Amino acid sequence: MKVLGICGSMRKTGNTSVLVKKILDYVKDEGCSEFETDYLSLSGLKISPCTGCEKCREKKWCILKDDWDTIAEKMTGCDVLVIGSPTYFYDVSGQVKNLIDRTYSLYHDRKLAGKNAVVVSVCADRGGERTLETLEGFANTHGFSSLGFVAGRGFGEGDVINDERSTEKCIEIGEKILKLVSNTHRSGQKKR
Ligand SMILES: Cc1cc2nc3c(=O)[nH]c(=O)nc-3n(C[C@H](O)[C@H](O)[C@H](O)COP(=O)(O)O)c2cc1C
Repeated sequence: MKVLGICGSMRKTGNTSVLVKKILDYVKDEGCSEFETDYLSLSGLKISPCTGCEKCREKKWCILKDDWDTIAEKMTGCDVLVIGSPTYFYDVSGQVKNLIDRTYSLYHDRKLAGKNAVVVSVCADRGGERTLETLEGFANTHGFSSLGFVAGRGFGEGDVINDERSTEKCIEIGEKILKLVSNTHRSGQKKR
């Protein structure tokens, strides 16, 4: 069971990374050997916007050449996607929007359908709901099964650690991910 965490903040150690990593760490620490986690920050990566060329309808992959390929390969290879974004003007960051728009190329032959998704947003004050809606719209369109959401509050880098409601929700979500593998199977194989 491959669990991929994508953090769409431009701050490598920002609040979104705290929440996405919290979910992954729980799965890593509490899960059996069947679980494999991978974390990817979009910070510093080049993800150009979709040009609307529609060439992907035939190719079933985006023809633009940048870091998107590596991310898309990881996404198509995972079983659970945890995707998080900071709230920028009541919505996802531009980097996340670019990534999402380019997954149009994976939609034509439903490359992401049937996988599980968790969506995560962080805002300082307002707009986090719309960020979640955008991420949910992405996940629903592709046919992911939803394992839920985490909505965090924080402004300065790392502030979200004081938002107990969201950090506790990360544990709840982590448990849900672990339940994807049957309990009977887990009990004999716990890593620690
Ligand atoms: C360009 C920009 C736009 C932002 N817009 C909002 C907003 O609309 N609502 C809000 O509550 N916070 C807004 N914020 C604050 C961030 O959402 C907040 O600092 C969040 O914790 C950042 O997450 P990160 O640490 O993972 O980058 C904005 C920050 C930036 C840099």
